[in-house]
Amino acid sequence: MSLPLRIAPSILAANFAKLGQEVADVTAAGADWIHLDVMDGHFVPNISYGPDVIKALRPHTDAIFDCHLMIAPADPYLEAFAKAGCDIITVHAEAGPHLHRSLQSIRAMGRKAGVSLNPATPLSVLEHVIGDIDLLLIMSVNPGFGGQKYIPAMTDKIRAARALIGDRPIELEVDGGITPETAPLAVNAGANALVAGSAIFKGDGVEDYRKTISLLRQSVGA
Ligand code: DX5
Ligand code: ZN
Repeated sequence: MSLPLRIAPSILAANFAKLGQEVADVTAAGADWIHLDVMDGHFVPNISYGPDVIKALRPHTDAIFDCHLMIAPADPYLEAFAKAGCDIITVHAEAGPHLHRSLQSIRAMGRKAGVSLNPATPLSVLEHVIGDIDLLLIMSVNPGFGGQKYIPAMTDKIRAARALIGDRPIELEVDGGITPETAPLAVNAGANALVAGSAIFKGDGVEDYRKTISLLRQSVGA
């Protein structure tokens, strides 16, 4: 089962003073998904934005909203993110003791359920939930901040994740330090969804975003 390449710009690196325009521009530039990084200053050492901001962005694009929750606990807030218009809701395996329950809740709300793993977390935590997920997000940096460097050891982890997924229709997403230089490492190892924040939003406006998104696609031969 090979899923299409998805380019998922993270608006963490966008201009927060004009987020609606940024989301519309990056969609016009060819983004497949909009990656939404939610941080609570507790699970990760940074605070970003929450469901009200996401809800306000929803009318600005038809693109899939790919929501990455870096919050603990996540369960009390899942409904708010579903109602805000998130299509995929990803929780961290490290964020709480009831991962299976979180995944069931997300699916019960009619949303796709994802699991994210920090760089140090082994794939073995997925052994008993692999049948309950629609997306696996491998962190290629320690979550909390944009603009960090891709951790080379994550390439082997992506390869192992691809083997674990096998024929299941699970999106394999990589997040952190993705550029036209590192994207081929992730995709050759089996990833099909690429998050990119600073690489895309270091530019300004549709034409810059389009160039970087095209470069990312070209770099992986798409
Ligand atoms: C990190 C976030 C990432 C981040 C990626 O905690 O999950 O999505 O915004 O940013 P870059 O592409 O700059 O590494
Ligand atoms: Zn993210």
